[in-house]
Amino acid sequence: MKPTSLPLLPLLLVLFLLSFLSVNSCASYASYDRLVRCLSRRVHSADQASKMVYERTNSSFTTVLNAYVRNLRFNTSSTPKPLIIVTPLLESHVSAAVVCAKSLGFHIKIRSGGHDYEGISYVSDDPFIILDMFNLRSIDVNIKDESAWVQAGATLGELYYGIWEKSKVHGYPAGVGPTVGVGGHLSGAGYGNMMRKYGLSVDNVLDARIVDVKGRILNRKSMGEDLFWAINGGGGASFGVVLAYKVKLVQVPETVTVFRAERYVDENVNATDIVYKWQLVAPSTDVDLFMRMLIQPVNSRTQVGQKTIRATIVAEFLGPADRLISILDKELPELGLKKENCIQMTWIKSVLWWANFPNDTAPTALLNRAPASLNYLKRKSDYVQKPLSKADLEGLWKKLISLGKSGLVFNPYGGRMGQIPATATPFPHRAGNLYKIQHSINWSEKGPDAEKIYLAQIREAYSYMAPLVSSNPRSAFLNYRDLDIGVTTNGKNSYAEGLVYGLKYFNGNFDRLVRIKTAVDPTNFFRNEQSIPVKPK
Ligand SMILES: Cc1cc2nc3c(=O)[nH]c(=O)nc-3n(C[C@H](O)[C@H](O)[C@H](O)COP(=O)(O)OP(=O)(O)OC[C@H]3O[C@@H](n4cnc5c(N)ncnc54)[C@H](O)[C@@H]3O)c2cc1C
Ligand SMILES: *[C@@H]1O[C@H](CO)[C@@H](O)[C@H](O)[C@H]1NC(C)=O
Ligand SMILES: *[C@@H]1O[C@H](CO)[C@@H](O)[C@H](O)[C@H]1NC(C)=O
Ligand SMILES: *[C@@H]1O[C@H](CO)[C@@H](O)[C@H](O)[C@H]1NC(C)=O
Ligand SMILES: *[C@@H]1O[C@H](CO)[C@@H](O)[C@H](O)[C@H]1NC(C)=O
Ligand SMILES: *[C@@H]1O[C@H](CO)[C@@H](O)[C@H](O)[C@H]1NC(C)=O
Repeated sequence: MKPTSLPLLPLLLVLFLLSFLSVNSCASYASYDRLVRCLSRRVHSADQASKMVYERTNSSFTTVLNAYVRNLRFNTSSTPKPLIIVTPLLESHVSAAVVCAKSLGFHIKIRSGGHDYEGISYVSDDPFIILDMFNLRSIDVNIKDESAWVQAGATLGELYYGIWEKSKVHGYPAGVGPTVGVGGHLSGAGYGNMMRKYGLSVDNVLDARIVDVKGRILNRKSMGEDLFWAINGGGGASFGVVLAYKVKLVQVPETVTVFRAERYVDENVNATDIVYKWQLVAPSTDVDLFMRMLIQPVNSRTQVGQKTIRATIVAEFLGPADRLISILDKELPELGLKKENCIQMTWIKSVLWWANFPNDTAPTALLNRAPASLNYLKRKSDYVQKPLSKADLEGLWKKLISLGKSGLVFNPYGGRMGQIPATATPFPHRAGNLYKIQHSINWSEKGPDAEKIYLAQIREAYSYMAPLVSSNPRSAFLNYRDLDIGVTTNGKNSYAEGLVYGLKYFNGNFDRLVRIKTAVDPTNFFRNEQSIPVKPK
């Protein structure tokens, strides 16, 4: 190369990049303009239409985008960003957004609370726009008929608070994370600490309102029982936009009891026995009792520099401490739980306790839509149908200690869960499942190097568990979104690809979901990395 040509190279590079950027922002402006014009016609107001649309150059774009990012893995400069964010204020706006996006050829991602573990409600590899439901969050509680209408953009905390305002003896069986969105949580089945008594969130849904691919607003009657079935556990985003659910409230006692009991394997001779026995007791005990088990590799408290396993039981009992103690004395004496280890409180206080708020926090804290802190994280799931032996558990302790950070959360089934037929909702993991495992890893270091290490770690823990958990298919929980178990090529979304993850999430219910999808959205407008495919002709 001649020396005179040297300065040209960076110059050309800069020119090339500049032209690329300006073409990009032009394209994005044209998209914005076309969308606003279409929406203006549909909502009969240019002002309302432009107010609900954020283009990339808008100074609030990043704030609006980040407001519901709940996994720092998807808060990086290389995370693909939407062209536009649409934030409807009314149901009719959602309908307009669907019709306009469809006619202009935009791929939409629907976001309610943004808690998807893989961020698929706000990330996509192809050009896309976000339909963000956060403005649609009204809650209308009717104690007389023990029901509530709740819009998709509401959080679980807002729902619990809304119920508590009207009644101290009613609740709703849904997740323990108060910032989780109703739209994703309920359409993905939803479970929480009253699951053994009352089943899943979707076992307690009475009606729903959605916008279908033609922009029509439908309720249970007008959408029909097939589509209603599909959006109660099959994931909303394959079928339409969920506007609201009408949920059935459940009775809760005036006093509930909670406890947290930590046992370290290197300190308590019973620790492994407790975990072993937990597998037999937790899924079969009184339905008022839900005992979650957390398994984590931690630093030993007695031997400096050594790692050990901590097994923690976190429990909700829908009744007084005395009755809880008499149950555990009989069924799990190894734990040695005493009344003074228990805390009696109101149900709403227990909601705050599960969410790790300090014990004097007022219920209004549930109205806070943003979590206190965020992590980088990855989750995976498994189902256990046969108890692990003590030897299996000891092997697992060694493995987790050698990996270092990956942990497990066991959530017991049984009770009501085992009585509801596997075909009642798209969620198939009912009788025959002792407990669900959530594989869990959190980290706080930025960047791709840390991510690589921690993802490898949780994947190794998952591989290690293969012989101990469900197989053919190795079942998984839709709300614990995991793109490792299969993804579909956007736009193609073939049945063969869908079958891979579809059988894991839905087992025998997958085919019914495919039939419904094919009937209600034959052009596959509502799609994502793990959506239900259309049936091949
Ligand atoms: C901190 C935390 C705690 C959790 N605790 C629990 C728990 O206790 N129990 C449990 O079951 N799960 C739990 N989860 C998982 C959670 O239920 C799912 O991630 C759920 O899908 C989140 O709903 P969202 O509206 O917040 O998420 P989003 O990311 O907004 O959406 C998730 C999926 O649903 C689709 N979707 C969202 N809104 C709509 C809509 N209105 N119409 C159609 N499709 C829609 C999205 O496109 C995406 O595919 C937890 C997750 C986190 C991060
Ligand atoms: C950004 O977009 C919002 C919503 O459309 C609009 O109200 C606001 O005026 C825009 N801000 C700027 C600086 O353009
Ligand atoms: C997300 O990333 C941006 C840009 O790096 C940063 O300013 C912001 O603080 C991040 N958000 C969180 C919650 O860490
Ligand atoms: C171990 O379990 C037995 C009951 O099986 C109990 O009597 C004993 O107190 C427990 N030991 C510890 C350290 O908790
Ligand atoms: C709240 O926590 C404090 C400190 O842990 C404790 O002293 C107090 O008894 C607790 N109050 C209730 C009502 O449990
Ligand atoms: C990760 O963080 C969540 C809370 O944000 C916690 O519930 C979970 O136990 C943590 N997982 C591990 C393995 O530490």
